[in-house]
Amino acid sequence: MCSVIGYYGDHTAAPILIKCLKKMEYRGYDSVGISTRHDNAIITKKKTGMVSEVNKTMKLYKLPGKIGIGHTRWATHGNVTDINAHPHVSNSGRISVVHNGIIENYIEIRNNLIEIGYKFYSDTDSEVIANLLQYNFEKTPNIKKSIMNTVIKLRGQYAFITIFENKLLAVRYHRPLIIGLKDNDRFISSDIFGVSTEIDKVIHLEDRSFSILDKKQIHSYGFDGHLIKYTMTNIKRGISTISKKNYEHFTLKEIFEQPESLLQIDVKSISELSRIASKIKRLYIIGSGTSYNVALIAKYLIGKYCGKIVEAIVSEEFTIFPNMDKDSAVIAISQSGETADVIDAIDIAIRENIHAYAILNVPTSLLAMKCDSVAKINCGLEIGVAATKSFTSQIASIYIFVEKIIRRKLIDLPHTSKLISRILDNELEIINISQVLKNTLNIYVLGKGIHYPIASECALKLKELSKIHAESMFGGELKHGAFTLINNNTYIIVINPQDETYEDMIISVNEIKSRGAKIIGVSNTRSKLYDYWIRIPNSSDETVFPLIEMVPLQLLAYYLSIEKNLDPDHPKNLAKSVTVK
Ligand code: G6P
Repeated sequence: MCSVIGYYGDHTAAPILIKCLKKMEYRGYDSVGISTRHDNAIITKKKTGMVSEVNKTMKLYKLPGKIGIGHTRWATHGNVTDINAHPHVSNSGRISVVHNGIIENYIEIRNNLIEIGYKFYSDTDSEVIANLLQYNFEKTPNIKKSIMNTVIKLRGQYAFITIFENKLLAVRYHRPLIIGLKDNDRFISSDIFGVSTEIDKVIHLEDRSFSILDKKQIHSYGFDGHLIKYTMTNIKRGISTISKKNYEHFTLKEIFEQPESLLQIDVKSISELSRIASKIKRLYIIGSGTSYNVALIAKYLIGKYCGKIVEAIVSEEFTIFPNMDKDSAVIAISQSGETADVIDAIDIAIRENIHAYAILNVPTSLLAMKCDSVAKINCGLEIGVAATKSFTSQIASIYIFVEKIIRRKLIDLPHTSKLISRILDNELEIINISQVLKNTLNIYVLGKGIHYPIASECALKLKELSKIHAESMFGGELKHGAFTLINNNTYIIVINPQDETYEDMIISVNEIKSRGAKIIGVSNTRSKLYDYWIRIPNSSDETVFPLIEMVPLQLLAYYLSIEKNLDPDHPKNLAKSVTVK
């Protein structure tokens, strides 16, 4: 989603803002902009494109001033154009705003301001914030009051940073925002990772609060004006540094980190979650995107082994279910802990007095703060927009969750880690298959039972990374309709390890083959029915297959993006954390 950043300190702001924006680009990257304040005036430069590109063409780094704000955008209101890029400056030119979130009633506010003579230049909802602040400041020239009078009019979920005269403002209503500090430097950021190398202390702002910063002081208040005294915490540096190491892309680095990241899971926090959840009758597992695919796996595993009533629900679709009562709990699965659809679903659970738990990767996230119990997958920072290593760690955490309930071992993580390393050693075979598929427009991915969510995740990765339209289906479902689309040029990936699903899938593969399609089998055994074979290692224990079979498919989606000259770290129109509805 959009990233917002602010700096006030001893150094020239622009180069620091650019450095941080580059790190946060995974949140949204269709346009970039910076405002700085110098000699009592605000200077703004902004344009569509990625940070490095815009920095070069617009010479953002040359902007003078030791106070500044910056933004990378993921468009919600208004097309991707230079004028819609942030920051947005008020008509007086004295207030500049960068915003993440949505102002739902912006049209009404804009019309009211137009009636009294204000001019608007963009199609965004964000521009109203700058002008409303100006309007309120002109009525009551007090910064604190102007903010209070502004936020009372805004409807929606947002966070914004503002250069307001010689102050920097951080305003948070239900969207992430932190303040970071080191020596005389103050940062405001939507993401701790963007500033983690620049700061040593952090303040996590509360919802419905704002802070007014200058070089000497930080004053924080609730939206109703009450003073808030925050405690600062020292920042912990995670296992991943923000570097691609020797890899071409973050996505590839993260795929290759899986043998290690899998072993970082915080088993203690998962055991604690299991202990609590074991007493609950009905579990609703929610997630979006990749995390929803893990929710489907969780439904399968918890249902099979624990005998509980489990529903897997896409977070966006989570509304109150008729059977939800005190004996129900919601478990949110989320890498970022920031996804708006997930947060909204958890808010519903909290409102209804239902237990709310989470399995996540970012322990400081909004979701972590809201939930009664949080299990941590600890896979380290994931920068690539398409989730990879978080997926395997999430699945492993579900296995551990189940193991603790049934008091029986299901998987051996160190052994699984070795199997994943062996898959990664076969990278070349995957590169060869990506060359075969690079001109394909549509792919079906088939899975049965617990392998269906893997098929679904594979289809998602193919869409995200390689821009190939891919559709997941249950093994035998093709014959109920999609057969009509099959011909000699159709490629079908089948997830077909040797377990209880194997024979049934082979029946489906035979039917498909006789209609001319080409089969790419993902299996531990080669079948003569496969035109191409994606080999996964043999294992005496078939429960391990769902944990390892996505790894070669992640590589396939990655290499297809390379074959097609796409940027796998920044797929078009996507963002890592979707913090708006
Ligand atoms: C976005 C990302 C996906 C991710 C989904 C859920 O759409 O592009 O890769 O799976 O959000 O994210 P979460 O952080 O909640 O797991």
